[in-house]
Amino acid sequence: MVSGLFIALAASSYAAAQSFVSDPLIDKVVPYTAIPYQVDQHTADRGPQHGYNICNSTTEGQSSLCQTGFVNHLDDFCLFAPPELSTIGDTEGIEVAYCTKPGRGTRLIPEGTFKGVQLVKSPGYIQIVGFIDQTKLNIQQGDFGGELDSGGQDGRGNPIGGLVYSNNLPGSSGNDSFVQSRHWTFFIGGDQFCLKVCDSSNPNAGHLCEHIYDRIGCAYNAPNNAQQNVFESCEGEDMMPVGTYVSGGQTLTWTQPPEGVEPVPPYTPTPAASSNCVSFQSESLFAAIASVTASVSESASASTITSTNSNGQPTTITRSVSSSARGSGSGTASAAGAANTNDGVRAMGISIVAGVSGVLLSALMFA
Ligand SMILES: *[C@@H]1O[C@H](CO)[C@@H](O)[C@H](O)[C@H]1NC(C)=O
Ligand SMILES: *[C@@H]1O[C@H](CO)[C@@H](O)[C@H](O)[C@H]1NC(C)=O
Repeated sequence: MVSGLFIALAASSYAAAQSFVSDPLIDKVVPYTAIPYQVDQHTADRGPQHGYNICNSTTEGQSSLCQTGFVNHLDDFCLFAPPELSTIGDTEGIEVAYCTKPGRGTRLIPEGTFKGVQLVKSPGYIQIVGFIDQTKLNIQQGDFGGELDSGGQDGRGNPIGGLVYSNNLPGSSGNDSFVQSRHWTFFIGGDQFCLKVCDSSNPNAGHLCEHIYDRIGCAYNAPNNAQQNVFESCEGEDMMPVGTYVSGGQTLTWTQPPEGVEPVPPYTPTPAASSNCVSFQSESLFAAIASVTASVSESASASTITSTNSNGQPTTITRSVSSSARGSGSGTASAAGAANTNDGVRAMGISIVAGVSGVLLSALMFA
């Protein structure tokens, strides 16, 4: 369950096996109105939580160590990424929230980061997949990254103490009403990301946001139709839990092999049916971060970074119905989605799996 696509990292993590805590992060029910300074109080093994969970106007800016994130809507979500230029594997325990909206005490995602984003809201979760310039998020160029999630090798989460909330999951009564997602998974690297935040009140949350498939990337963990230069918000059905597939009329479960054995899933993931996709212009979605630049060395001026939307008003969004084939009718969305929109999935699957293979090969050479 070591997160990270890095075999070298995994190997060293295993060498210093960490004990599993008695109070794992997934069991911590933390109402939005009762967030503690740090949700994780452990100090052994991986050390104390790096940042904090109470985030406010004092912490906001590009040096924030806020570890409370949000996944709300296509224009309103956060990613976890390194506090300083690094790889995901080297900083999985200490990563911080980068968000598209100011006002929550976090860093802001620099302008020009996104190259295409797809959000799918299903009964059980919100899934967001996108193409990015990861160097704008302090992730080294060429890093294939890995998995962050509310589990982690010791149950403390990656990042340790990372909390995630949403105003768009069951239980929320509007945009000012945030519910906690205790089961979430997030892959970032290879200039892509995919995240899933599951509805904790759904009995299937643990399976829909399964976090033990950390080496097979977005294609399997978040099957999707995301495309470069397309920004869209869709509705969808729940995916089959990661690792499960139908063969010969039976539902079978594949489990990721131990480190050192290349993971080769015996099935090709298919995105769950989606419909009602609405596409947007990225400028209208991310106007709040239009003036945020990725100047990692400017910690002194971090607090002066402002958004063009300083009055805090919601940004006007220009709606235009997607003209792509799968948006052509809700009745046919399922078939069309399965038939014609695998481009993003394949691209993601190939590049991430290729990254795994490459790292595996080099790890074997060192063995
Ligand atoms: C703002 O957040 C910081 C960091 O978590 C915390 O120490 C401080 O008490 C907070 N301020 C208020 C007014 O809540
Ligand atoms: C909630 O925020 C989203 C954008 O993040 C917006 O599209 C939606 O209309 C808002 N909902 C309400 C009820 O204001």
